[in-house]
Amino acid sequence: MTADTFPMIAKTVSGLEPLLAEELRKLGAQNIIEVTRAVSFEGDKALMYKANYSVRTALRILKPISQFVARTEDALYDGVGKLQWHEYFKMEQTFAIDAVVSGEFFNHSHYAGLRVKDAIVDQFRNRFGARPSVEINQPDVRINVHIYQDQVSILLDSSGESLHKRGYRTAVDKAPINEVLAAGLILLTGWDGESPFVDAMCGSATIPIEAAMLAMRIPPAYFRERFGFMNWPDFDSTLWEDVKTAANDQIREIGAEIIASDRSGKAIDIARENIHNAHLHKDIKLIKKPMENLEPPEGEGVLVINPPYGERLEEEDLVALYKGIGDSLKQGFKGYKAWVISSDHRALKMVGLKPSKKYTVYNGPLECRFARFDIFSGSYKAMKTEKNEGKR
Ligand SMILES: C[S@@+](CC[C@H](N)C(=O)[O-])C[C@H]1O[C@@H](n2cnc3c(N)ncnc32)[C@H](O)[C@@H]1O
Repeated sequence: MTADTFPMIAKTVSGLEPLLAEELRKLGAQNIIEVTRAVSFEGDKALMYKANYSVRTALRILKPISQFVARTEDALYDGVGKLQWHEYFKMEQTFAIDAVVSGEFFNHSHYAGLRVKDAIVDQFRNRFGARPSVEINQPDVRINVHIYQDQVSILLDSSGESLHKRGYRTAVDKAPINEVLAAGLILLTGWDGESPFVDAMCGSATIPIEAAMLAMRIPPAYFRERFGFMNWPDFDSTLWEDVKTAANDQIREIGAEIIASDRSGKAIDIARENIHNAHLHKDIKLIKKPMENLEPPEGEGVLVINPPYGERLEEEDLVALYKGIGDSLKQGFKGYKAWVISSDHRALKMVGLKPSKKYTVYNGPLECRFARFDIFSGSYKAMKTEKNEGKR
């Protein structure tokens, strides 16, 4: 580490850690280490701004400011009190504590959070005779407390609101996918940004919007206006503008044909609104059609779908849905690599094709498979016969 660099932690969705590490490496991060649902790394303030603006698979970028040992709430209080809190925020600013505890010494995140809050508030009151206010929903400064056994870490949240809130999604239909997960899925497909890209069950259009932003190199936070670090005393607005300009200079016209389709009229209306918010109405073709009637662009395209999962469907509807997906793939998507995300492992089997690749990712609390089916361009029957003959 040099004088200007410091450690940081980027948080993500389980299963996307290697992608996040790679994105950070490309931005120039040093000493990258993958851990569960996070990546630790080092860099300077410019890198912290870049990570917030340009990394598609990060939920938050945190900056550790203190680490100490505590086995009791009083020791936690004392440890927090050693920091000079007025150096991190002003009395007029609001703050919130986000605590996560595990191990034998602390059992309740809520109580640990309250004790940290007390330590901060008491310090301000003792020094200045007044205290800053807590604001849960939109605080100026977010403080993370992470306790594992007796190891306490205090971190500042440089992102503020989670980075999946890109700023383009003002409306959602049923079960929208998290934007960070959507971006991660697209990166996992290895799509080149040139060949056709189709989401035939687009819902609120999260996946096609993330695909277009990736292909056009539009930074994921392009439409976001607020970040936590803007409320820090060391906020460097010139550096921030430079970081944004450098990233925005990379934006290019789209080469690929991107299709967003859904059978539901309501979903299409919502998708239109979000696509419009992202200024992508010229770049994403929106079609109201069931997948079985869709005629996708010819060529070696990529299809990504996020069908409804079992929890919300009757058994027989589920069987019909996933069998239907298999039939549509075989008939309509010749030459495509078709990717399906589902938490229902049995349902995925009903697609009736053998996955050529599988990843495990989490959609919220649901463990999901993200499976690839290679749809051959010749007759499917001929391909099967050929394969069997090859085995003899
Ligand atoms: C889980 S939602 C997709 C959510 C979407 N990824 C988002 O971020 O909003 C599933 C979508 O599949 C659509 N759907 C279900 N069966 C379909 C079919 N046979 N053809 C086209 N769309 C279908 C539903 O209308 C719904 O919008």
